Amino acid sequence: MAKKKRTLDFQRLKKVSILAPLTLVQLKKVLRDIPAVSYPEDRTILRQADRPSKVFIILKGAVKLHREEAGGERIYMGELKQGQVFGADALFSHQACRTMVTTSRPSQFLLLDRKLLKKIIELLEPDQALKFLAAFGRQIQDSCDLENRRYLHHQTQSLKIEVEKQRALTQMVAAVAHEINTPLGIINTAVGIMARELAEPKEITTQRAADIAESLELIRRNVERTRDLIQDFKKVSVSQITYSRELLDISELIQEAINLIRVSLKGSKISVQFVDRLQGSQRNWIGYRRYLSQILINLLTNVERYAYPNDVGGVVEIEIGMNKTDQYHLTVRDQGLGISQENIKKIFEPYFTTGHALGGTGLGLSIVHNLVTNRLKGQVKVKSRIGKGTTFFLTFPRTIPAD
Ligand SMILES: Nc1ncnc2c1ncn2[C@@H]1O[C@H](COP(=O)(O)OP(=O)(O)OP(=O)(O)O)[C@@H](O)[C@H]1O
Ligand SMILES: [Mg+2]
Repeated sequence: MAKKKRTLDFQRLKKVSILAPLTLVQLKKVLRDIPAVSYPEDRTILRQADRPSKVFIILKGAVKLHREEAGGERIYMGELKQGQVFGADALFSHQACRTMVTTSRPSQFLLLDRKLLKKIIELLEPDQALKFLAAFGRQIQDSCDLENRRYLHHQTQSLKIEVEKQRALTQMVAAVAHEINTPLGIINTAVGIMARELAEPKEITTQRAADIAESLELIRRNVERTRDLIQDFKKVSVSQITYSRELLDISELIQEAINLIRVSLKGSKISVQFVDRLQGSQRNWIGYRRYLSQILINLLTNVERYAYPNDVGGVVEIEIGMNKTDQYHLTVRDQGLGISQENIKKIFEPYFTTGHALGGTGLGLSIVHNLVTNRLKGQVKVKSRIGKGTTFFLTFPRTIPAD
C-alpha cells in the first residue's frame, strides 16, 4: 500500500478536538517523531474484521464507512471528516472492526498506538487527562452513533420495502380473486338458465335454441375473461401488468360490457338503459379495452347487490358524452336505496363493505378508483341520496397518455 509520510503541522493538530486539551509544547513533545500518513482517494484503510492496533485521527480529507452483510450486501454507514477518529472502539475493546473504512478523497491521518496513548496520558495534568479522555470518548460515541443510526435507518428501509411488497402482493391476490368472482358468477347463472331450458320436456323451438346459444356465448366470453385475469395473476406484481393502448369504439365497448352481465341483471329484474351522446369520431377512444369493462362490471354488480337488493329490480342508466376539452363523461345512475352520508366517505377504501353477509369484500370500488385514476388517468366521483339512488361520475381523456 503506497503511503507517504509527512512531518506534522502542530498548529493544525491543536484544532483536532481530542488533542485540544494538550498544550503546543506537550503536543510537540509527545508527537515529535510521529509522522502523518497520507493515503490517496478510494483506498481501503481498515477492513471489516481487521483488528487495528492503532487509533486513526483524520488530519485532512474524509473517509467513508461501509458495513458488509452476511449476504454480501454492502451498506453505506456514513462519512467521517477532519478531526474525527476511527478504529478506537476496536482498539480498546480488542474486537474486530465492524465497518470497512475507505478514503473518500486524498487524506492524511495521525496514528496513535496504545504506547503513544499511554505516553500522552502520563504527560498530562490530571484534569487535562480527564478532558482528553472525555474528548476521546465523545469521538468514539459519535462514530458509534453514526453507525447505529445509519444501520437502523437501512434496516427500517429494507423492512418497509418488504412490507410494501407483501402488501402489494396481498392486494393483488385479493383483487384478482375479486375480479374472477364476477365472470364465474355469470357463468353459473348462464349454466343455470341452460339447465332449466333443457330440463323442460318441451321441444326445442328456434327461440329456445337462440336463448341456449346466447347462454353458451356468455359462458365462452366469461371463461375468456377469467383466463385473462388469471394471466394477470401469474405476473405476480401489479406493476408488471401492462396492456397496450388501442384505438377502440367506446360505445361498442360499453355495450359489450353491459352484454357480459346482462343475463345476471335480467335475473335480478334490472334493466339497463344506455344513453349514447357521442357522435361520429367522438367514439374513437385511445384506451384500454379491459379496464373499462372491469370498471362497468364492478359498478353494475353493486347496483344489483345494493341499489336493488333481493331482486326488487329497477333501472340503471349508463350515459356517455364528451365535453369541450375532449374528456369523456361516463355516468352510471341508479334509483335504488342510496348510500348514507356516513358511508359515502368510505366506499372507495379497500375492504369497506356493508355487504359482508352477501359475500362482499369491499374491493370492487377500490379497484374502480384505482383503474380510473391510475389507468384511465381520470377521476371518479359519487353522489347519492338515501331512497333516491346513486350516481357514479367518471371523467377521463379521449386519448389516454402512454405510461
Ligand atoms: N349502487 C350502489 N348503491 C348503494 N350502495 C352502494 C352502491 N355501490 C356501492 N355501494 C356501497 O359501497 C360499498 C362498497 O362497494 P364495493 O364494491 O367496494 O364493495 P362490495 O360490493 O361490498 O364488495 P365486493 O365489490 O368486494 O364484492 C358497498 O358495500 C355498498 O355499501
Ligand atoms: Mg362491489
